[in-house]
Amino acid sequence: MTYRITLVPGDGIGPEIVDSAVRVLNAVGQKYGHAFVYDTALAGGCAIDRFGEPLPDESLRKCLDSDSVLLGAVGGPKWDGLPGHLRPERALLGIRKELGLFANLRPVKLMKVLADASPLRADVAGRGVDLLIVRELTGGMYFGPRGRGRDETGENAFDTEIYSRAEIERIGRVGFKTARKRGKKLTSVDKANVLESSRLWRETMHELALEYPDIAYTDMLVDNCAMQLIRDPSQFDVIVTSNLFGDILSDEASQLTGSIGLLASASLGAGTRGMYEPIHGSAPDIAGQGVANPIATILSAAMMLNLSFGLKREADAVETAVEAVLAAGARTRDIAAGGAYVTGAEMTERIIKAL
Ligand code: IPM
Ligand code: MG
Repeated sequence: MTYRITLVPGDGIGPEIVDSAVRVLNAVGQKYGHAFVYDTALAGGCAIDRFGEPLPDESLRKCLDSDSVLLGAVGGPKWDGLPGHLRPERALLGIRKELGLFANLRPVKLMKVLADASPLRADVAGRGVDLLIVRELTGGMYFGPRGRGRDETGENAFDTEIYSRAEIERIGRVGFKTARKRGKKLTSVDKANVLESSRLWRETMHELALEYPDIAYTDMLVDNCAMQLIRDPSQFDVIVTSNLFGDILSDEASQLTGSIGLLASASLGAGTRGMYEPIHGSAPDIAGQGVANPIATILSAAMMLNLSFGLKREADAVETAVEAVLAAGARTRDIAAGGAYVTGAEMTERIIKAL
């Protein structure tokens, strides 16, 4: 089979880590007899520099025309002063929205060999961390009405958290179905003690829960969830939540594994085409030094193999190779705890050898 992948390397460490993932994909293709064909699209800060806009039409078209998108990271201090609609992050939000990628899956797993890198106390880490955050990705505060105004005290600004029942149902079903394939536990996270949008969220989730009697369902308030993630993350299997809460909780959860440099994500819509990206940012402070951890992007490519191309065996092989290399002691700087480390390129080579 031939699969057409649009690469969006973006800014900062984006190009290095996407290059690593492409090398691994090519090795997979060679071993299992698949052809991956790539097209590269500029988006983010590099597109602002070149074309004056974060997501040029041509880049969006390349994403729409592909079987899937692999993205590095966008943004950096260079573009921080730009107005909202011209910021690099608009590229990311634009691709998510235009491709209809409403479900963002962020698995968080503490590998036994990396337990030392986790800031969790040994007895808490020992109970294990293996959860998945299902974050709504095309609604809520990120896309609601916004603006600036004035009142008698001076200038003000507002953003709006707005969710329709249909949007909640759509993401809720992804939550239940994902739980069904894992540990059959779903926690829906909201702020229903204060927010009207959360009350509709909770009502809708309760109605859905009746359709999935095999799933152990609970509600949790977001502030409590933030605490429970640190107190006892082993209680969670699948968490489903809004765009904004999911953004915050997934960065928090990533730290349980030792490094945000390990965490992959998939953004999916109604069809099989998805966008795959590490959950970390462009890390401009370490760009070009060769020390960036490519594992999050490599694991994102593995998610692409599984979820968009149905190549589960190949995806498992990549994950197993990553685990084997870590078990053999290879560490990039972020997970070396001050000890010896290898470059991102060397880590990539070792993963390819382990394949
Ligand atoms: C993420 C990022 C993005 C988000 C930013 C870069 C717009 O933090 O994917 O979590 O907030 O969604
Ligand atoms: Mg984020």
